[in-house]
Amino acid sequence: MPGTLQGKAHAAHAGSGAENLTQLEFLALNSEFNIADGHARQPLTPGQSKIVNDLPLLFEEGEKRPVEELEREAHAAFFKALGQHSYPSAPGRVLSCYSSSVAMEILSRALSGTTGSVALVHPTFDNIADLLRGNGLKLVPLEEGPLHEDDLAPGLLKSVSCVFVTTPNNPTGRVMAPERLRRLAEQCAEHGVVLALDTSFRGFDTRAQYDHYEILDASGARWVVIEDTGKLWPTLDLKVGMLAHSEHLGLPVEKIYSDILLGVSPLILGMVRRFSEDAAAGGLAELHEFIAAQRAVVRSGLADLSTVGVPDPESRASVERVLIKHMSGTQAWDALREHNIYALPCRPFYWADPDRGDPTLRLALARASAPLSQCVRALRHVLTPR
Ligand SMILES: Cc1ncc(COP(=O)(O)O)c(C=O)c1O
Repeated sequence: MPGTLQGKAHAAHAGSGAENLTQLEFLALNSEFNIADGHARQPLTPGQSKIVNDLPLLFEEGEKRPVEELEREAHAAFFKALGQHSYPSAPGRVLSCYSSSVAMEILSRALSGTTGSVALVHPTFDNIADLLRGNGLKLVPLEEGPLHEDDLAPGLLKSVSCVFVTTPNNPTGRVMAPERLRRLAEQCAEHGVVLALDTSFRGFDTRAQYDHYEILDASGARWVVIEDTGKLWPTLDLKVGMLAHSEHLGLPVEKIYSDILLGVSPLILGMVRRFSEDAAAGGLAELHEFIAAQRAVVRSGLADLSTVGVPDPESRASVERVLIKHMSGTQAWDALREHNIYALPCRPFYWADPDRGDPTLRLALARASAPLSQCVRALRHVLTPR
């Protein structure tokens, strides 16, 4: 088994019995103390509750108005709320999907017809690697540190058909700065390589809300961006993943989209428009304050433990890694389960070298405050050396 894909999966999650992060997230779904998945599960704000109270009206609107119009309005409101003023508005350039994983599957299938590997940021959420590999693509790890500091080697760019970056990254929260994006896009343009971004977590971080589309278009590169409403708002997984792409992409994303779906529900599009408007009118700033307070609860709750560190001090994403010096993340995950608490061990995020994820555990912050505080107290107990 070692060396095979299955062998790798087993090695990645040794001890947990699971083959990927989502299987670990399933285990947590029914627990009051689910701090595993990165989906939004915090309480609705008063402004958001008002939208939920208006659902019958949104339903009626969805029945009566053309879906094309609702979709256009949802896209415009979402992109505007996140500073993406140059987003593509021509028909077919932003494909609305049931989730960002569906958008990712469409991109992966489209890339499977190309020659060359995909250079993928390392670490990142494992389903990105799994969907690419599941479509027969070979992956080359792009280490996160160097990716944000230096140009990519021309030799690497000659051997790949796509460079894929998650920004802000999950689990590290690392954001690609505008100058780095510009340079990376220019390099991809020079080598005829597609530049793909997953920006699912950008709503949490104003540093990721500069106009990416302006930079991508100016570079002349062929590009794809996967956007997501699912991490931001606690809408019970009623969400949209969007696959935005450049003109002349040269990949059959629209055909593959139509192989998989006709479109997303007009009710959800109406909700996305209203939640986006609420975000632009102060909801996003409120969310940032909330996540910062949740992060402070985790950091202050563990601050005096000499066995614990903060690996991502700059992160503003809705997830927080904890560095553990005296046991593995998998051992801590196991010990937390005895308290009915479910976090995520970080081995699987290191899709090319799981051992490097051993010392870290990831906690989800987009949760109600009281259960999160209880989780932190239990984590403190588990991580206190005896
Ligand atoms: C960066 C990133 N992209 C995509 C996904 C997949 O999202 P979904 O489960 O909504 O398809 C995740 C899930 O956590 C993620 O972290």
